[in-house]
Amino acid sequence: MTLTIGIIGTGAMGAGIAQVAASNHCKVLLHDTNITMLQKAIEGINSSLSKLVEKGKIDANEKTQILSNITSHQNIDDLSDCNMIIEAIVEDLSVKQKVFTTLESLVSAECILASNTSSLSIASIAAACKNKERVIGIHFFNPAVLMPLVEIIPALTTSQKVFDESLSIIKSWGKVTVKAKDTPGFIVNRLARPYYGEAIKIYEEGMADFATIDHAMKTLGGFKMGPFELMDFIGNDVNYRVTETVWQQFFYDARYRPSLTQKRLFEAGLFGRKSGKGYYDYSISEMPQPNEDIALHQKIFLRIIAMLINEAAEALLLQIGTREDLDLAMVKGVNYKQGLLKWADELGIETILNELNQLHQWFGDDRYRPSTMLKLKVKEGNLFY
Ligand code: NAI
Repeated sequence: MTLTIGIIGTGAMGAGIAQVAASNHCKVLLHDTNITMLQKAIEGINSSLSKLVEKGKIDANEKTQILSNITSHQNIDDLSDCNMIIEAIVEDLSVKQKVFTTLESLVSAECILASNTSSLSIASIAAACKNKERVIGIHFFNPAVLMPLVEIIPALTTSQKVFDESLSIIKSWGKVTVKAKDTPGFIVNRLARPYYGEAIKIYEEGMADFATIDHAMKTLGGFKMGPFELMDFIGNDVNYRVTETVWQQFFYDARYRPSLTQKRLFEAGLFGRKSGKGYYDYSISEMPQPNEDIALHQKIFLRIIAMLINEAAEALLLQIGTREDLDLAMVKGVNYKQGLLKWADELGIETILNELNQLHQWFGDDRYRPSTMLKLKVKEGNLFY
């Protein structure tokens, strides 16, 4: 059976998801309130497919076929026959709820209603619907065409049938799926927070500059980009907002506290690459050189990786995902060279716990409190794997 997939909101994410679905033999109906965005999405998909033809990944006939699977609709009523609708509109709860209520009145009882939200709870979106069982989170990563990971997030009210069907559809599109609990940041955006937060803290204390911290994480941790390069790439506006939202949703837990350094960059419009300046100045050709002190690199790496592992251990304790899913998500969603729990086994869980205990004692700051899961593992002499 050919599935009919509706996409609401055809910005960066909606267009990417549409291309994925259409490339996997689904009929795709695009809807956006802004007609220019609808046109842009089609143009974007067209040029993305042309690049795949140039690279020999698909042929011209396949490109034509994929494009013919996609149609644009200014009128949301046209989406009434969809099997699944994925919403990727502006990150605003009341606007999303309104769209879900409208959709509910249009589609059949079997149609799955999914949100690609990064920071809102699926429960809060589902709350607007009469049939909450059919509402689920399906969270792609940017760019959706290239990033293999998709987090599937059932709300408390989502039925097992809707979860199973969603999983099977997304898997049939060749994506790697993980199941995440409906909690702030789901898996990836939660576990990755210390990569930014601890790097900024190290800089604020004057321990090292941006270039040295980036260099340490790339050389010792095998990260593709250092934290400051990555924040400038993502955009300090986007990254700051995610950090602030996650912190608020965790009831202001010190572990997720944003930094004034990033807030000031955000306020000053120093967003990173897209504005020409962020942590780095992209108008000058010579980038600052890192300090070559290997002992300093090791201190930086240990501190940041200990904080990342602490977050993964805490997520395991709180059953945000299985051990395998927590690790897979970081490899397939943000290109970590290995999962954080596996990394903990390799580095030694006791080494990580000692580092956190020392930081906690030294700074007296609750952000460093070690997860009970790490203490348990050390006490029982177990590895994660
Ligand atoms: P975007 O700003 O590029 O696109 C949003 C689109 O939604 C725009 O074309 C806008 O015209 C349209 N829109 C707004 N209100 C609408 C409505 N009521 N009905 C129909 N269309 C409407 O946003 P982006 O970045 O694609 O994000 C969309 C969603 O995906 C958000 O929930 C975001 O949190 C989530 N997300 C974003 C990621 C990213 O890296 N940009 C990654 C993963 C999820």
